[in-house]
Amino acid sequence: MATSQESQPAWGKFIGVGVGPGDPELITIKAQRVLQQVPVLCVPKSREEGDSYVLSFVSHLIDLERQALIELVFPMTKDRARLEEHWSAALVKVVAHLREGQDVAFVTEGDPFIYSTFMHIYALVRARYPEAPVEVIPGISSINAAAAAAGLPLVDGAERLAVLPATYEGERLEEVLRQFDTIVLLKVNRVFERVLASLSKLGLAERAVYVKRCGSPEQEIVRDIGELRGQELDYLSLIIVRK
Ligand SMILES: C[S@@+](CC[C@H](N)C(=O)[O-])C[C@H]1O[C@@H](n2cnc3c(N)ncnc32)[C@H](O)[C@@H]1O
Repeated sequence: MATSQESQPAWGKFIGVGVGPGDPELITIKAQRVLQQVPVLCVPKSREEGDSYVLSFVSHLIDLERQALIELVFPMTKDRARLEEHWSAALVKVVAHLREGQDVAFVTEGDPFIYSTFMHIYALVRARYPEAPVEVIPGISSINAAAAAAGLPLVDGAERLAVLPATYEGERLEEVLRQFDTIVLLKVNRVFERVLASLSKLGLAERAVYVKRCGSPEQEIVRDIGELRGQELDYLSLIIVRK
């Protein structure tokens, strides 16, 4: 007679798949293979009624006749309690498939270990279900893709690179701008005016390049960032400051 342990299928693997910044050619062969093979895919989106950005550039690799697609909502909020609710809800959905022995790919824009929601679900899976195998497939981050698109080498020799959310307040941001040779500011859209003021104060505005939606057909590169004053900026944009 089979024991209950024998009748339980082996856990499926939880795989964070980085799919690059939005150019279908900037996806690794490994990511592409996994996206085509896994039975279950999760894609993040910020609103229930909205579309998933990352899905828009990997949909050609997915076959919905044979693969299940789970859209997970993660609102753009700093409210930790609200975020945790959404992470827990996502975890339940992911684990239901893993327990059935199905591999689940969590599709992440750029690289999965750079400011991604995947990291939170990954941490929960590892902490609560250590029996579930996990894997992370790195992707080309927006940092690498933007630097290449803008023709800005990032660091050489003894130079130092800082990557941070532009949402750091005045003096904390300026401290980083003073100390590092190249600074990449992500999530710049809502705080652009404040960032511009800090860059101008330190004489670095001319050294800053704005990159929007790199790798996608909507890519834009702005080298005179003062032009952006008063404009509504895209969430998928960043600034590279190269001294
Ligand atoms: C939550 S982080 C995700 C980073 C992503 N995991 C990566 O490796 O690039 C989102 C921020 O990354 C930057 N970003 C992501 N994709 C981008 C793109 N295609 N072009 C420019 N910036 C991008 C923006 O600063 C955006 O606010």
